[in-house]
Amino acid sequence: MRERILLTGGAGFIGSHTYVKLVETGYDVWIVDNFENASEDIPDRLASLVGEAPRIIRCDLRDYDSIKAVLGSAHFDAVVHFAARKSVPESETNPIGYYRSNVVGLVNLIDGMRGAGVRNLVFSSSAAVYGATTNVPIAETTPLAPLNAYAETKRAAEDFIRYVARAHPEMRVGVLRYFNPVGAHPSGVIGEAPAQPPSNLVPVLARVATGQLDELKVFGGDYSTRDGTAIRDYIHVIDLAKGHALSLKALLRDKQSHLVNLGTGRGYSVLEMLEAYGRAVGRNLPYRIVDRRAGDAAVSYADIRQAKQILGFEAEQGLAEMCRSSWRYYSQEVGVDTSGADDPRPIIVEPKTSRLSSALFEPGQGPLSGAIQRDGSGQWSRSARLKTPPGYE
Ligand SMILES: NC(=O)c1ccc[n+]([C@@H]2O[C@H](COP(=O)([O-])OP(=O)(O)OC[C@H]3O[C@@H](n4cnc5c(N)ncnc54)[C@H](O)[C@@H]3O)[C@@H](O)[C@H]2O)c1
Repeated sequence: MRERILLTGGAGFIGSHTYVKLVETGYDVWIVDNFENASEDIPDRLASLVGEAPRIIRCDLRDYDSIKAVLGSAHFDAVVHFAARKSVPESETNPIGYYRSNVVGLVNLIDGMRGAGVRNLVFSSSAAVYGATTNVPIAETTPLAPLNAYAETKRAAEDFIRYVARAHPEMRVGVLRYFNPVGAHPSGVIGEAPAQPPSNLVPVLARVATGQLDELKVFGGDYSTRDGTAIRDYIHVIDLAKGHALSLKALLRDKQSHLVNLGTGRGYSVLEMLEAYGRAVGRNLPYRIVDRRAGDAAVSYADIRQAKQILGFEAEQGLAEMCRSSWRYYSQEVGVDTSGADDPRPIIVEPKTSRLSSALFEPGQGPLSGAIQRDGSGQWSRSARLKTPPGYE
């Protein structure tokens, strides 16, 4: 029988790409999401990529009874936990909301997992827990020094997981510290939700390319780096999805808990990213160098030896593909002209199902009538509106 995996936040950016990878790997994958940062038509987008309607349960992890009901509704072999809020600036103005989503949500999830006898957890952590360390490449043993509320929630979550694993040794955990996830599925069908206010480089570059933003503000041009701008480790979301499949394999087959960085092990400067994105778009993008931002490290890239040793993980996708796939997805979503682009044409992935009906459930209820379909011209249409997720704030 296929192993069953629950993805929390599986309708989001990294979760949706991981969903596709895990289904392709042969798992029976279910998603829970409250849709606060996910597109309502994601069920049919995923169906078009994997050839079957995904099982998606609308559920908010801040509500213990809801997640408990989901975990009690079927046997799950493992949970991959993406559901969280991720904006650094927003976390500074709304720390209560961030702790409630990122820490309380995790406590509810693990409590529910324990009650249902689910023993394996993969957790989305972040290189943000390292703060502005100057020890590069950054190894997992680097002392943690989070510099904002978002990063603090990830450290608190990691600490909590460590205590749970110590108290309950039968639990196995994979903690994955992502560096800077970018790019999109090669089809252009899924990517990073365009509605989200961008606070990281690549979504900002996409908006500069469409004219939604006038220019890229480059924070600091006087770092001691090759061109004076800050250097980061960008990893393609397709590689990240592969990292989750390997993490699950380590937990389920090798029975091995682990904590690893997921990055490429190499860094690109802001100006190098700007140039690469401009190449994908087919023209130079405007930018202006402004003051450094407080708390930004000059150089940050991952020590990738542990991920390779424990998981056999190595990133494969290069910078050009990161930028091309990002632009393919984003330009399609906002409907801009891509003539002149390096690779303007989306790679059309024909839906493998003839009728793409979504399977959205409320915990304890039947499916919602939310069929969303792609018409003959390739446009996504919604035949019924889905319920608004319950608000907690
Ligand atoms: N994208 C990055 O740059 C990055 C970097 C490091 C770590 N991470 C972590 O990876 C994970 C996934 O990030 P992403 O980029 O895919 O984010 P995302 O916002 O695209 O996806 C998160 C998903 O979780 C859902 N969600 C949020 N709160 C929820 C709740 N209380 N209950 C149920 N669903 C909820 C959202 O609707 C969304 O679909 C997060 O934990 C994030 O902190 C992301």
